[in-house]
Amino acid sequence: MKLIRQVNKASIKFGGQLLAKGNLVAFPTETVYGLGANAKDSQAVAKIFAAKNRPSFNPLIVHLSDQGEAHKHAVLNSSAKALADAFWPGPLTLILPRQERCEISPLASAGLDTVALRVPASAAARGLITAARKPIAAPSANLSGRLSPTCAEHVANQLKRKVSLILDGGPCDIGLESTVVDVSNNIPVILRPGGLPSEMMEQAIGQKLLQDTGNGTDIKSPGMLVNHYAPSLALRINAQKPRPGEVFLGFGKDAINADLNLSPTGDLLEAAANLFAYLHQLDSMPAKGIAVMPIPTETIGWAINDRLERAACR
Ligand code: TXA
Ligand code: MG
Repeated sequence: MKLIRQVNKASIKFGGQLLAKGNLVAFPTETVYGLGANAKDSQAVAKIFAAKNRPSFNPLIVHLSDQGEAHKHAVLNSSAKALADAFWPGPLTLILPRQERCEISPLASAGLDTVALRVPASAAARGLITAARKPIAAPSANLSGRLSPTCAEHVANQLKRKVSLILDGGPCDIGLESTVVDVSNNIPVILRPGGLPSEMMEQAIGQKLLQDTGNGTDIKSPGMLVNHYAPSLALRINAQKPRPGEVFLGFGKDAINADLNLSPTGDLLEAAANLFAYLHQLDSMPAKGIAVMPIPTETIGWAINDRLERAACR
């Protein structure tokens, strides 16, 4: 059996069968690669925690093939419905109260009475979920605390021996994880900035969103440990130039001496798509550390800065 397969009809069918039988399959989404398991099968879900070395208090996102499926598992209030209508399929995860008869493994929710749901936009991801005929629990396909994978090679480097299959759909379009919004109460709260900018959500629901991106101690956002997304090298943010021994990650046209430039034209979407791949690349260089130029904080820049701040924290 080949470990890595290109995404096509046959490999998606094969991946779906592996998932339905309780195996782990890594797959592409528009945000980052996910490490998938049948969300209704507690033993399969437990394999995710073991493979990633993920703390069991940190719940997983459950991926669905379409919005209609969400009502089987969770209760959607009016803001949840408005956000789902506007942005599913897409890079948005909603934290919702579990339905009374929700069949998703409590382990996927880490014992909380809420469940995180997302309908990914990626055709490969939705094809796989449809083929498995199951909701698919999938965190990012990296070891806990490390950089998220934006191509199949990143997944293979960290998890090759722990998965039954890696579906290779090429590099991810967005390159940053989904935006996580808690809509389990009356007032929606952003728990994690991500691929969907808050400005777009506020426009869609005509309401300001609160932010609680946490400091790692708050149970509301158990995944937002401060030192998440860490490369092995020390990372220094908002750097105007590199110090001796540092490699330099630039942004925009002023980044003359940069080893890599997230976007020479200063395009934040391009920078997001390149962020993790470039950090992976610089992290493997014989350097003392990585220095990163300042990145504007508007739109998806907020999520880029969030990941950089966490990567810089050790
Ligand atoms: O883009 C993404 O979201 C990717 C792809 C694969 O879909 N997945 C991803 O999963 O980033 P993960 O496990 O790396 O991040 C899930 C985040 C964590 O911060 C976790 O704490 C939070 O969602 N989360 C999950 N369930 C939750 C819940 N019931 N309440 C609060 N936060 C929850
Ligand atoms: Mg992750």
